[in-house]
Amino acid sequence: MELVLRPMMASDARACAAIVCASAIGGHYGFEPDAMAAKLSEALASGGEIFVAEIAGGVAGFAWIDQRGAFSTAPYLRLIAVDTTLRGSGIGAALLAEFESRTKEVGRDWCLLVSDFNEEAVAFYERHGYTKAGELPGFAREGITEILMIKKRPRL
Ligand SMILES: CC(C)(COP(=O)(O)OP(=O)(O)OC[C@H]1O[C@@H](n2cnc3c(N)ncnc32)[C@H](O)[C@@H]1OP(=O)(O)O)[C@@H](O)C(=O)NCCC(=O)NCCS
Repeated sequence: MELVLRPMMASDARACAAIVCASAIGGHYGFEPDAMAAKLSEALASGGEIFVAEIAGGVAGFAWIDQRGAFSTAPYLRLIAVDTTLRGSGIGAALLAEFESRTKEVGRDWCLLVSDFNEEAVAFYERHGYTKAGELPGFAREGITEILMIKKRPRL
C-alpha cells in the first residue's frame, strides 16, 4: 500500500497521540492520550514542524522535528513513532529520511535523544548511521538515561 508523507493536521492529533501512548516510551513516561494530543496540537498551532506517514487514509506514524532544536544549532528529532501493528515495514525509515531531508540545508549533524531502555530504537538509529555521542542520566525522568545520538552530515 502506498505510503504518503504529509504535514500533520490538527485532526491527526488524537491518532498520533494514540500511537505514542501505545509504545514503550508511552508506558515508561506515563504519557496520557488526551495530554499528548493537546501537546501535539499546541506544538502544531505554534509552528511546530510535524509530519505524518499515511497509509490508506490512516495515520501510520509521525515525526516531530526542530530545524535547530539541538543546541540552537543542529537539527533535532524530537519524537518519532510508528503504529505498533505497522512496524518493521520501513515507515520509521521513511520518517527518519524525511527528517534528514527537510533539515539538510541547516548544514549541521543530525541529533536525537533516545532512552536507554529503548534498545530497539537505538539499533534502528544505528542502522541508519547514528552513533552514540553522550549520555544524560536522569535528564527527562529520574532513573532513565537519555542517550545522545548523532549522525554526521557528509562533509564537502
Ligand atoms: C523506532 C521506530 C520508529 C521504528 O519504526 P519502524 O517503522 O518499525 O521502522 P522500520 O520498519 O524502518 O525499521 C525497523 C527495523 O526493525 C525490523 N523489524 C522487523 N520486524 C519488526 C517489528 N515487528 N517491529 C519493529 N521492527 C521490526 C525491520 O526489518 C527494520 O530493520 P532494518 O532497519 O534492518 O530494515 C518504531 O519502532 C517505534 O515507533 N517505536 C516506538 C516509539 C519510539 O521508541 N520512538 C523513538 C523515540 S527516540
